[in-house]
Amino acid sequence: METTNKQIVLAARPVGFPKPSDFKLVESPVPAPGPNQFVVRSLYLSVDPYMRSRINPGGKSYARSVEVGEVMVGGVVGEVEESNHAGFAAGEFVVGMFGWQEYAVSDGAGVRNVDPNLAPISTALGVLGLTGLSAYFGLLEIGKPQPGETVVVSGAAGAVGSIAGQIAKIQGCRVVGIAGSDEKVRWLTEGLGFDAAYNYKTVSSNYRKLLTLCPNGVDVYFDNVGGEITDAVIRLINVRARLVICGQISQYNLEKPEMGPRWLWALIVKQARAEGFLVFQFADRSDEALRQMARWIQEGKVTYRENIVDGIENAPRAFIGMLKGENIGKQLVKIAEPSAR
Ligand SMILES: NC(=O)c1ccc[n+]([C@@H]2O[C@H](COP(=O)([O-])OP(=O)(O)OC[C@H]3O[C@@H](n4cnc5c(N)ncnc54)[C@H](OP(=O)(O)O)[C@@H]3O)[C@@H](O)[C@H]2O)c1
Repeated sequence: METTNKQIVLAARPVGFPKPSDFKLVESPVPAPGPNQFVVRSLYLSVDPYMRSRINPGGKSYARSVEVGEVMVGGVVGEVEESNHAGFAAGEFVVGMFGWQEYAVSDGAGVRNVDPNLAPISTALGVLGLTGLSAYFGLLEIGKPQPGETVVVSGAAGAVGSIAGQIAKIQGCRVVGIAGSDEKVRWLTEGLGFDAAYNYKTVSSNYRKLLTLCPNGVDVYFDNVGGEITDAVIRLINVRARLVICGQISQYNLEKPEMGPRWLWALIVKQARAEGFLVFQFADRSDEALRQMARWIQEGKVTYRENIVDGIENAPRAFIGMLKGENIGKQLVKIAEPSAR
């Protein structure tokens, strides 16, 4: 077993867009498990947009901020290396919030086992993890799509958006995706079966483009990005439309909050509903949702893509790249291979 634990800590609170120097690689001894604890060796790390708000000064978010000098927060799939815990044996695969580090000690709180026979273990951080659950509950519980309705997804080629759009197709909807490159747009229409998609970076008006792609208006909007794109979609909503506010990534790196058009009147006129959600509010139903997602994957109704960067030292680069849109599908960092037990 290794004796050194490489960790990425927060070196400085970013101002605006994060930079590599906001993070620092440090080394510490590999921890030993105490009574009722186990040590996990990290295999895959998830980098996610929510981490941007966790490195802001405290008090602004729904969860505690990471302090300067502290290991970055993050979901990890790993292998139990050594265990004094009755519920987790050495050699088992687990997923939990173990942070940006090669080894972590855990008492099992918030940790679940990962079945390597169900799907590749990395999917426990993506389509068979919080990503898939966000798409599933956000779309089905908040969006309540009906067959024949038009569903627009922003951030559509990202981890959550690409799954939300496919679930909308399964529900019999017409699905229109918005994404930031021509390659992403091709994947959405040719690879995932979206009915239409466009590159928001190359259109002069999101509104005019959406007008042509959504001739019957918009019934459900799955919003990952906010900002100008959302302002444009809202002008096209139908009576009783549902706006699923999943994320607002266009706003996360701004130094000053952006002022946009005041569009709430549209909710009155269209008797529409905008509702935000946190995936954790559905935690008691996650087993049911993961079983359904696994079935859809096995039936070929949901496909997923992973963008994998190698090495814990490259986690900051992967995180910043994801915020810039370099990922197609789920952004992961591969830290190590499973053991050959
Ligand atoms: N509510 C919840 O419980 C919950 C849970 C998970 C995630 N989320 C939210 O869901 C959203 C998607 O998360 P994810 O993990 O699936 O990330 P992701 O979509 O895989 O990655 C982020 C994507 O955001 C897009 N983006 C970045 N800046 C943008 C901008 N200014 N305007 C438009 N698009 C921009 C980029 O794609 P382009 O190339 O298309 O720009 C990038 O690939 C995030 O807002 C996240 O905070 C919410």
